Amino acid sequence: MTQLNTASARGKLPLREYLERMTLEEKIAQLIQLAVPFFEGASDDGQITGPMASLGIDGHTVRNAGSVLGLAGAQETINVQRMHLAHNRLGIPLLTMADIVHGFKTIFPVPLAIGCSWDLALAERSAEIAALEAAVSGIHVTFAPMVDLVRDPRWGRVMESTGEDPYLNALFARAFVRGFQGDDLAGNPDRVAACVKHFAAYGAAEAGRDYNTVDVSERQLREFYLPAYKAALDEGCEMVMTSFNTVDGIPATGNVPLMRRLLREEWGFDGVLISDWGAVKELIAHGVAADEREAALKAMKAGVDIEMMTSCYAKHLSGLIAAGEVDEALIDEAVLRILELKDKLGLFEKPYRAADPEREREVVFCDAHRAAALELARRSCVLLKNDGVLPLAAAQRIAVIGPFARSGDLLGPWSWTGSQDAVVRLSEAIRAKAAAPDAVTVADGCGIEAAPAEAQWAAAAAAAQSADVIVLALGEHSDMSGEAGCRSDIRLPQAQLELVRRIKALVPGKPVVAVLFNGRPLDLHGVIDEADAVLEAWFPGSEGGVAVADLLYGDANPSGRLTMSFPYSVGQVPVYYNAFNTGRPQGAPDAQVRYVSQYLDIPNEPLLPFGFGLSYAAFEYGEAALSADTMTPDAPLTVTVRVTNTGSVAGIETVQLYVRDVSGEVVRPVKELKAFRQLELQPGESAEVAFELNERQLRYYHSDLSHTSDAGAFVAMVGPNSRDVTPLPFALVK
Ligand code: GLC
Repeated sequence: MTQLNTASARGKLPLREYLERMTLEEKIAQLIQLAVPFFEGASDDGQITGPMASLGIDGHTVRNAGSVLGLAGAQETINVQRMHLAHNRLGIPLLTMADIVHGFKTIFPVPLAIGCSWDLALAERSAEIAALEAAVSGIHVTFAPMVDLVRDPRWGRVMESTGEDPYLNALFARAFVRGFQGDDLAGNPDRVAACVKHFAAYGAAEAGRDYNTVDVSERQLREFYLPAYKAALDEGCEMVMTSFNTVDGIPATGNVPLMRRLLREEWGFDGVLISDWGAVKELIAHGVAADEREAALKAMKAGVDIEMMTSCYAKHLSGLIAAGEVDEALIDEAVLRILELKDKLGLFEKPYRAADPEREREVVFCDAHRAAALELARRSCVLLKNDGVLPLAAAQRIAVIGPFARSGDLLGPWSWTGSQDAVVRLSEAIRAKAAAPDAVTVADGCGIEAAPAEAQWAAAAAAAQSADVIVLALGEHSDMSGEAGCRSDIRLPQAQLELVRRIKALVPGKPVVAVLFNGRPLDLHGVIDEADAVLEAWFPGSEGGVAVADLLYGDANPSGRLTMSFPYSVGQVPVYYNAFNTGRPQGAPDAQVRYVSQYLDIPNEPLLPFGFGLSYAAFEYGEAALSADTMTPDAPLTVTVRVTNTGSVAGIETVQLYVRDVSGEVVRPVKELKAFRQLELQPGESAEVAFELNERQLRYYHSDLSHTSDAGAFVAMVGPNSRDVTPLPFALVK
């Protein structure tokens, strides 16, 4: 492609000179992002059909559009770019953007699963591989990472987040941005620009219903929801995407306080801000714009540079300027940011960048990438229960029963270029482990939601009766997660719960292992109480079937730790570990029996807490200790604990450090994750972990939004998860 890039380079003008030479119409076109069919050279041959023409988009607009959404494929992008450059008067290259959220063709586990690995290096590597596969396929920008903090598993998009903790989400946000972008976008065309989303607090949608109202205090916003976006930007993330929801009564896409004052002025972000799909026009439905003209006005005033998929800008910006309602300087600012991004990507000199059909064939879905996906899938699964039936033995006769026994639907809802055909099915992967292939029988047992036909049940019953161990492969269809994939009932579908009951009744006492393929924390009643072991596999990606079989047979030892609480039931939601104590906490020494914060019918605690996960090894924690019982701003503390693997196999333990501010100027969470360390220990091996704890880690947003710490009583807590911790009181003295 070097020749192609060289031949096309026309010599770049100073960016401001493009601006001076551009007509107003050409400037406005730069702010428009269109889908693939609009573009000549695309496989749809860019025909502008009726529906598109109704968007007010004409051929001239397309030829001058700033960017395209969802175009992929080296040759396809080369064709479209070539046609675009041939028609664009000033030779301004087209920017290609797409959703590469957890892999391009090599699909990694969904981000909620990656979060459960607690391994930032593997997360960064997954983004680097995704970037390479996308870049050689002609993509310049990915709409990722999604860093929305989540607390409500009814919401379909929790699978796209790394969970409920702001500190951990911020670390993963940085890792993903580093992996996608590297440190030299212009010099390294094998990386892509990242776009952190969805700004802001999309995960706080009321009732877990997508696109629903978000109404949190500014303090909650800053304490919990904003840190991960800020971390992504501090890591150099080039773009931000607006969220569909309101923030304090104003839709994010038209929200001047959020976008102009906080994002651009307070945080100093001067990169490209893109609306989410249709969010500019949705200002009308929200009820803050009377029509598309006012929607364009409000989005431009909020600083939205690119309008994705609607045409309010295309139709109305020139009229708004002519009427003096929008200053052309705002358009110039937006255009300049877009040109600067194209320049950072080196597109003026190399408009085809890394697009290369030959390299595409070499690197996309190559063995090395699949090996990385396998490793991350092994590390992302979480062992939730094991009454000794795992690991399996090769000599055992196994019945693999359930709708996911033979399913390729392991990629999750954001894998638009991944191929289910290439996914090794769980049943195949288990058969490859068994001593005798015919020792493994397979039956669907039921549909994901469909009750079994009698023949289906008969086959499942026969398989169960012939086996030593039953592996139930259960879960949600990937369409039951992801965007607009919200569920009010977060149990497994009834057909699958019935299958579990019937199998247990048919062969009482026979070991049953449940493997779950799903995109959210579930209400596990009917599964975890029936099965002898439960492995949460999430949507584990292209290599997920192999990874799960490796874990079931002990060729890999489960090490995942939950980054989102599993509720006791949906009635508990939202339930999260870093909650406030309330004035009537349950279980307090002087607590009354009835008049405390509790339910009459279920416990307050989640079924499985943040940070939880089991292993085939056994990790014993020694006496935790503090280096002193007081801290000052200049004299941090050290928290030490020794961990020993008293088991018979090697394993990875994630030692977690939490802190509680016993009394603040505002209420403070009962605990907050402040650090963690992963230890790989051989049988009998032990290691001492020493965490530094300093005053900066005790800072929080006060009622006046100052971010400072207060002298007073604190408790450090260390342990294997957010529940089973050792308290270590100390004081901050100022
Ligand atoms: C969708 C999603 C967003 C995605 C965009 C482009 O509506 O909300 O995450 O990046 O559209 O596909």
